[in-house]
Amino acid sequence: MRITINQIKEMKQRGEKITMLTAYDYSTAKLVDEAGIPLILVGDSLGMVVLGYESTIPVTMEEMLHHTKAVVRGTKQAMVIGDMPFMTYHISVDDALYNAARFIQEGGAQAVKLEGGVTVAEKVSRIVECGIPVMGHIGLTPQSIYQLGGFTVQGKTQEAAARLLEDARALEEAGAFSIVLETVPAQLAKIITEKVNVPTIGIGAGIDCDGQVQVINDILGSFTDFVPKHAKQYAKLTDIISKAVTQYHDEVKAGSFPTEKQSFSIDESVLAELTK
Ligand code: KIV
Repeated sequence: MRITINQIKEMKQRGEKITMLTAYDYSTAKLVDEAGIPLILVGDSLGMVVLGYESTIPVTMEEMLHHTKAVVRGTKQAMVIGDMPFMTYHISVDDALYNAARFIQEGGAQAVKLEGGVTVAEKVSRIVECGIPVMGHIGLTPQSIYQLGGFTVQGKTQEAAARLLEDARALEEAGAFSIVLETVPAQLAKIITEKVNVPTIGIGAGIDCDGQVQVINDILGSFTDFVPKHAKQYAKLTDIISKAVTQYHDEVKAGSFPTEKQSFSIDESVLAELTK
């Protein structure tokens, strides 16, 4: 049985920290699941770290569904959350509901995430009403980078901070089971965390959130085009991969790969017939 939204909410009540990581493919998701991480987000960061787009804006529903299915196949315990792409929940409540349902029905996810607070509350409410758990996402919302003016810290003025608190309350009221707080001052994240009953999951939002989320490529050091300040590299996969690929290339060129160990053979008698 996979982790449920009630178990996630109970973790906040117990003061137990919640870990979330992104994953985009079967084999990585399997490792994350086996590590016991309860929440796996198939983030639209897919667009940047896997597909090579400059932002998350070009990511489509079909791309997200393709990767969500792979992550679901690789997991047994974790709740898989599908990230709703740009403009798949903005136009109307019906649109939002239709696309959220696709993540559950076609993708096999157990929840969806969408960006925004007060402005998406009606959509969140309708999706939840139809039985689909929703994770909110406020602060730096990458689908709005052109409006925000870049990947900058949000909620720094009194007005902006008050607006974020209002957004968090609107999401809670609408029935979101948790809220991602991205790139906001740690003190503000702490206040929001104390004032809402649903778990907050921070990314660049300090230590006092109920949980933390990171893009897996950032913590593994496998995406280096852009390394956010909030990311800690627990490994440097780019170095390991480059070294392995270069060694393979060198060995093929030198004729030292494959060896007998990586080769197959047939019986001497068959060989004798063939070479007659
Ligand atoms: O797309 C993503 O990976 C995200 C996380 C950074 C929260 O939205």
